[in-house]
Amino acid sequence: MKAYRGALLRFDDQHQPVYDSDGLLVIGPDAQGERQLVHAAGAYDALAGRFPDVAVEDVRGQLIAPGFVDLHVHYPQTDVIGAPAPGLLPWLENYTYPHESRFADKAYARSVADFFFDELMRHGVTTALTFATSHPASVDAAFEAAQARGLRFITGKVLQDRHSPDGVRDDTQQSLADTEALIRRWHGVGRLGYAITPRFAPTSTEAQLRGAGEIAARHPDVWIQSHVAENRDEIRWAMELFPGARSYLGVYDDVGLLRERAIYAHCIHLDGEDRQLMARSGAAAAVSPTSNLFLGSGFFDYVQADDHGMRYGLASDVGGGTSFSPFHTMLAAYYVGREGQTKTGLSLTPSRLWWQHTAGAARALGLEGVIGNLQPGCEADFVVLDPQATPLLARKTAQADSLDELLFALIVLGDDRVVRRCVVDGRTA
Ligand code: GUN
Ligand code: ZN
Repeated sequence: MKAYRGALLRFDDQHQPVYDSDGLLVIGPDAQGERQLVHAAGAYDALAGRFPDVAVEDVRGQLIAPGFVDLHVHYPQTDVIGAPAPGLLPWLENYTYPHESRFADKAYARSVADFFFDELMRHGVTTALTFATSHPASVDAAFEAAQARGLRFITGKVLQDRHSPDGVRDDTQQSLADTEALIRRWHGVGRLGYAITPRFAPTSTEAQLRGAGEIAARHPDVWIQSHVAENRDEIRWAMELFPGARSYLGVYDDVGLLRERAIYAHCIHLDGEDRQLMARSGAAAAVSPTSNLFLGSGFFDYVQADDHGMRYGLASDVGGGTSFSPFHTMLAAYYVGREGQTKTGLSLTPSRLWWQHTAGAARALGLEGVIGNLQPGCEADFVVLDPQATPLLARKTAQADSLDELLFALIVLGDDRVVRRCVVDGRTA
């Protein structure tokens, strides 16, 4: 066992922050000796006496917090960040598909995956639900790179059998067989999980979507990930291609792709019935604010989402998104929430933004109590953050009179310089 003494942040079952300004986090192996878990967490004075023989590392002055969970990101788009385009569809056509075609080469895919994971951990992200490309080799490369680092990680082969250029377009039957084979090879191996990954309705035939839904029914603990209702042109196109569907989201519902453990990126332009469907099915939205601002897609409506009881969490959506930093994503989510011209604007509280990128994202994945929190029993994935990382942060956090003021200073002014340490499965990365 091992312990860390410092300021300590976790979340309770009501999603409220629990904060100990002088806290103790005790970690140790699970019963099988396979994984490091949180054994105890709380105020130092209350806990220290119970663990007299455990070595304590003193990180007082710093904040121990759950590792961040990125609910939607594309590792093959690491080098697509910052590609300018007049919107989603030209961005895909001109930059994204040509770049993704390179991931047929497994060695190239592995080199990008290695950079991607190191970058995630440098930013304090310890779990990501990630798109690969349509090439099975891109999935193997990512899983192997995650496994080498001990990360809890979910990805899947992209399904896209139409309206896609040579080099990324796949074959309907082969793509489904590849998905089944990859599930058998990787799902549940250590901390790895598989996600059935239709890119979005416009680039899949109905047969491919139906096949994906059938695989999802056979594997209820496998994840599903896709995109929906991001951009007006995309929605128009989806409705032309699926004229019988009630809505764009309805296309996925019709083929059995809405259920728990299904994560849909964006969910901006939904109607009330769509939001009800999301809530009822247990599917969750990956809110991707830097991407939505960069591509000019629109603003996620937090008030409507809450009114309908939708689940959601925060995501970078790199390379549509502009940063791997959870701090940048939380700040952009604040801007998006605040926007009050096209929807009702609200001021999301700092602890709520933080929850959405940790325990809330874990809950969206069905991994509540496993990751994204530091309550006893959770896996030992955490960050140690330095509130004095820059002169301005030091000045600002010294004046914080409450937890929310401390967290907001970090959200507004923080970036990778704040992340002093990223601990994955009990080991410092
Ligand atoms: N819709 C379909 N593919 C993509 C993608 O790669 N990024 C984003 N942001 N939206 C998509
Ligand atoms: Zn995306």
